[in-house]
Amino acid sequence: MDDRLGQMRNRSQEGGGEERVAAQHAKGKLTARERIAMLADPGSFIEYNPYMTSRAVEFGMERHRLPGDGVVTGTVLVDGRQVWVSSQDFTVLGGSLGEQQAEKIARVQELALQTGCPFIQINDSGGARIQEGVYSLDGYGKIFRNNILASGVIPQISLILGPCAGGAAYSPAITDFVYMVDGVSQMYITGPDVIKAVTGEDVTHEDLGGASAHARKSGNAHFHLADEASVFAHVRRLLAYLPANNRQPAPVEDTGAGTPQPTGKIGEILSGRATKAYDMHDVIDELFDAGSFLEVHKEYAPSILVGFARLEGRPVGIIANQPKFLSGTLDINSSDKGARFVRFCDAFNIPVISLVDVPGYMPGTNQEWNGIIRHGAKLLYAIGEATVPKIALIVRKAYGGAYIAMSSRTLGYDRVLSFPTAEVAVMGAEGAANIIFRKEIAGASDPVAVRGQKIEEFRENSMNPFVSAAGGMVDDVIAPGEARQALFRSLESLSGKRESRPQKKHGNIPL
Ligand code: HXC
Repeated sequence: MDDRLGQMRNRSQEGGGEERVAAQHAKGKLTARERIAMLADPGSFIEYNPYMTSRAVEFGMERHRLPGDGVVTGTVLVDGRQVWVSSQDFTVLGGSLGEQQAEKIARVQELALQTGCPFIQINDSGGARIQEGVYSLDGYGKIFRNNILASGVIPQISLILGPCAGGAAYSPAITDFVYMVDGVSQMYITGPDVIKAVTGEDVTHEDLGGASAHARKSGNAHFHLADEASVFAHVRRLLAYLPANNRQPAPVEDTGAGTPQPTGKIGEILSGRATKAYDMHDVIDELFDAGSFLEVHKEYAPSILVGFARLEGRPVGIIANQPKFLSGTLDINSSDKGARFVRFCDAFNIPVISLVDVPGYMPGTNQEWNGIIRHGAKLLYAIGEATVPKIALIVRKAYGGAYIAMSSRTLGYDRVLSFPTAEVAVMGAEGAANIIFRKEIAGASDPVAVRGQKIEEFRENSMNPFVSAAGGMVDDVIAPGEARQALFRSLESLSGKRESRPQKKHGNIPL
């Protein structure tokens, strides 16, 4: 090989040099190139602009020019499918982003959009390169804009594998899925020192912006994993559910997983009292292909479950109330979580299946004053807006406004199924009886007995699913043993669905 080419290649492979690579490893982190190697099918990486470097001269920058400028970019195959990638190199100026690094990232974002392939960014950076001042900010502007233009066109995934501080965190926030790793990832707008100075609070980097904080508290992280190797394995699994872009159907897979063994769990659940808590995961496991549920936002807003699964190999997006938490009520965070997931599925042609067991929206001053009306409306909006096939199965109960969000035909569900023992109603029988029979109960010689009788009367006359089936709100009432087949047949029959909408620039979802 030509000497110069060999030298240049070596320099670009070395990143910030041996010492800094060792420091990176000592922190339990992989290097930018090692990460790409873990993501890519062997030998598939095509690199772009490995010799591009900073043009800055201020603050001694002429001494810090390293080929690549702190990011490795290009395209790889993941399980044979093309993906574009950027991977920040913390060993070069802390992975900080200046003018040229931004150009490199923007280039692969644009190529991802033009070729209709997913974009994966690996963030490990001290943020805006301070020596490059507003040129850095200008670069972020370009990256954010590209994220926005690509939103809903190609899947965008962010792997936070180091610091991601300040405005830099807004690029991942715009993307579809964010991964974080314990003890490795940190994401915040202002760090512990600034917080201490402004609010007096003492907080560590990890408590403030670590994986757990964002997976549980803020909801900024969709996936929280123990180490980097698990991240790359998980990304592969996630990509298998997604089309390359919004013009392609989601990939159908012959998983060979087959029909799960009936566990009888659904029957058990239905034989219990309407208020008994159970784990909706058991219902999902019984209905969908064995082991196919890939849960998104597992730790955040747990009163709703969202995630991808397969039904006879066809990918679907599931939204499901979780009676184990807050009795499955919809609150501010679970409405946001459900709405965002439904919008992703709709953008990428993934049908939505709703598993319903919901007593209503969450009451309380906290919820009201923090905007349950606005946030709850997001879920309604997302369902009403989505044109993919939407199927609801009412498992145990569907009350009030939450019934509409989770299972209303008129809002836009294409097929609504119910188990025979489910309750579909404007509200629970106790509350309804207290309101409409208030005077009769109060005036009765035995108010307790009369109340009980009125509750039963309401339950029998208004809540059973045949009342809704008679009105056309429920398309069919099915036995639990028929549910998997009924969902699959419904999905198949709706797969050619096309729905057109009034021309508009875009709607105004209540944000
Ligand atoms: C230039 C940077 C840098 C930055 C780190 N480095 N961040 N150089 N600009 N933003 C350099 C360090 O000077 C150091 O170089 C090398 O990278 C490694 O950094 P360390 O501090 O030694 O690493 P570590 O101890 O692991 O700490 C990592 C860190 C810390 C927590 C990220 O570096 C840090 O606090 N950096 C600054 C973060 C920050 O304030 N960023 C700007 C935010 S403003 P040497 O040569 O000394 O080893 C912003 C606005 C964006 O981002 C707005 C966009 C819209």
